[in-house]
Amino acid sequence: MRGSPPMHIATSFSELQLALGRFSAAPVLVPTMGNLHAGHLALVARARRSGAPVVTSLFVNRLQFLPHEDFDRYPRTFEADCAALREADCDILFAPDEAELYPEPQTFRVQPDPALADILEGEFRPGFFTGVCTVVLKLFACMQPRAAVFGRKDWQQLTVVRHMVRQFGWPIEILEHDTVREADGLALSSRNAYLGTAERHEAPQLHAALTAMAARARPLAAVAGTPMASDAWAALEAEACERLQARGWQPDYLTVRRRTDLQPPRRAGEALVVLGAARLGGTRLIDNVEV
Ligand code: PAF
Repeated sequence: MRGSPPMHIATSFSELQLALGRFSAAPVLVPTMGNLHAGHLALVARARRSGAPVVTSLFVNRLQFLPHEDFDRYPRTFEADCAALREADCDILFAPDEAELYPEPQTFRVQPDPALADILEGEFRPGFFTGVCTVVLKLFACMQPRAAVFGRKDWQQLTVVRHMVRQFGWPIEILEHDTVREADGLALSSRNAYLGTAERHEAPQLHAALTAMAARARPLAAVAGTPMASDAWAALEAEACERLQARGWQPDYLTVRRRTDLQPPRRAGEALVVLGAARLGGTRLIDNVEV
């Protein structure tokens, strides 16, 4: 720990303004939904390295959950999160309740580009990115951060936020950080807590499937755009889905996309990423591997 002042905890916009007023520089924001693990703390460490004051927000954002999803059971571990953030030298924790962040029904929402936000996660979780962008906009507006840190684990979210910031011309730098993994490859996620013992044992197979796809995608990337390649992409994706299905998974998608706009590869030499989402029992996991 630095010999720095104690972390301020703000639960209202006015407390946040008071806390921010103690610093002369604009902060770097780490937006989270709490239940912090080493992946989140790596984002806080990334923010810390910027030299600016670090604000972590903690808010389980109802707007980005579908009615049948896990909003009610999403793990809430406020005391442990506070302790972890103190240990990580976070300057301010902003933890508003719903009445503070959404004092009236949030009927004005950010509508992201459907080409980016209605595919992949957006296809299986309609409205998800509208919910994410709307809360991120509110957080940006009340904090005016100089930068915000997002994890590559949520590659599509990072991409959508990058495009939103660019299109609105906000002077906010989007910093990113690599996915933090367990020793067996499983990407850290708050939802890993839902996995039973046998499921936890099986869960790294999603990362293994994406890694195997990435290895097969590398030579294909060199001939992307040819008819041969488009058949090969489809075969690669179908085989990977079938293999996971045979192990008891229900894949939503496993697919190779361009890193920047998440569209299918079109030309040789494009930077690609393999993205996947699949259910294991009642738990939906997502991950990605760069090609
Ligand atoms: O990645 C998350 O935890 C959330 O989607 C975010 C960015 C905090 C918005 O609620």
